[in-house]
Amino acid sequence: MLRTRTWLPLAKNLRFYYTVKTGQTTKDPHQVSKQIYSRIKATGPITVADYMKEVLISPTGGYYMHRDVFGESGDFITSPELNQMFGEMVAIWFLNEWSKVGSPKPLQIVELGPGRGTLSQDLLRIFDHFGALQSASLHLVEVSPVLSDIQAKRLCIQTENIVDPTSVIYRQGISHEGIPVKWYRQFDDVPDMFTLLVAHEFFDALPVHKYQKTDDGYREVLVDVDSNKEHSFRYVVARDETPTSKLFIKPTEKREHLEVSPESLILCKKISEKLEMNGGLALIADYGHSGTGTDTFRAFKKHKLHDPLVEPGTADLTADVDFNELKRCATEAGGVIAFGPITQRDFLLKMGIEHRYKALEANAKPEQLEGLKYGYRMMTDKDQMGERFKFLALVPSVLEKILEKYPVVGFH
Ligand SMILES: C[S@@+](CC[C@H](N)C(=O)[O-])C[C@H]1O[C@@H](n2cnc3c(N)ncnc32)[C@H](O)[C@@H]1O
Repeated sequence: MLRTRTWLPLAKNLRFYYTVKTGQTTKDPHQVSKQIYSRIKATGPITVADYMKEVLISPTGGYYMHRDVFGESGDFITSPELNQMFGEMVAIWFLNEWSKVGSPKPLQIVELGPGRGTLSQDLLRIFDHFGALQSASLHLVEVSPVLSDIQAKRLCIQTENIVDPTSVIYRQGISHEGIPVKWYRQFDDVPDMFTLLVAHEFFDALPVHKYQKTDDGYREVLVDVDSNKEHSFRYVVARDETPTSKLFIKPTEKREHLEVSPESLILCKKISEKLEMNGGLALIADYGHSGTGTDTFRAFKKHKLHDPLVEPGTADLTADVDFNELKRCATEAGGVIAFGPITQRDFLLKMGIEHRYKALEANAKPEQLEGLKYGYRMMTDKDQMGERFKFLALVPSVLEKILEKYPVVGFH
């Protein structure tokens, strides 16, 4: 079954306190299409994972690289963009769990794939409100130059680009609250320090390999050019096993179609290693399944489903996250324990979103009420984001005894 990233019509006044910047577009919208076409012509069909990576983050025309893709004028909307309550609940969760382990300092807040920087903005606002930003810094992992620009404008009073090619930080600044903010292209470069890490709708953007059951066993689905039409693509099924199908398909596998994201699994392992080594907490929120998902690779353009092979680079590509596999990779070395996945609805309600909603409603101007109610319902309703989105928490195993006595909030 296909799941949608977002739903229209969007209500007005979704957020109270900022206006949405309109996006830039690349000069040639067919750039990525041409690149992939030439590549396949030269070397043969490519994996869906290679296709997805090229389409989303190719420096020359990748979907995320040259425009603001969010909101009414973009292709989809995310929970932090809908309403401030989302970021507030996440912030309260972190503050609660952090204080349980003695509020270690210095504190490093890390966000993977911050989009417009809205979730980080809400986190900093709440942390600041509770006086939790002394000795804190914010670290953003973002590949998109345009989105990092938008994040910098939203979060910082000043920023500078770092031109030194040996530096793993490509931009830095000072936030409105007065803490250092740094930008990296990859998680590996984030310093080793006590970390509160959040990844919202990040893992679903990481490349997946697709497989299909055939009479000869599982075979990888590849992307080939469509010889009937220039710059068009089609799926083909590999004749033989590919290195990844040998590696990733379990002997017990039964599904007709399945997707595997090695990049996500490796990243999850790295997050766990950092948490184990330096201490910290991670919250991964995304739409996903527990090992039952099948054919979920899809595209969104202007808030509608779109064919992933048509006009690549002009639509968002995404696939459901396999939380079972993330959890397995995070915990298999034994240094980290995982809680969840639980639904977004459960998480937000247990964190007290209802009370926050009522307080905001009581103080809202009449023209803000529609957006507030719409945001609340979208985030919590079972048939909207409430059940589709899941939360997974990762905590170092050394905390197991403490957590038996004082369980992780929201997850029990
Ligand atoms: C779907 S958006 C989510 C944005 C934000 N977390 C939110 O919920 O509004 C994905 C984000 O991840 C970034 N991104 C995608 N692939 C990435 C990669 N491989 N490395 C770093 N950032 C990536 C995108 O540029 C974008 O900021």
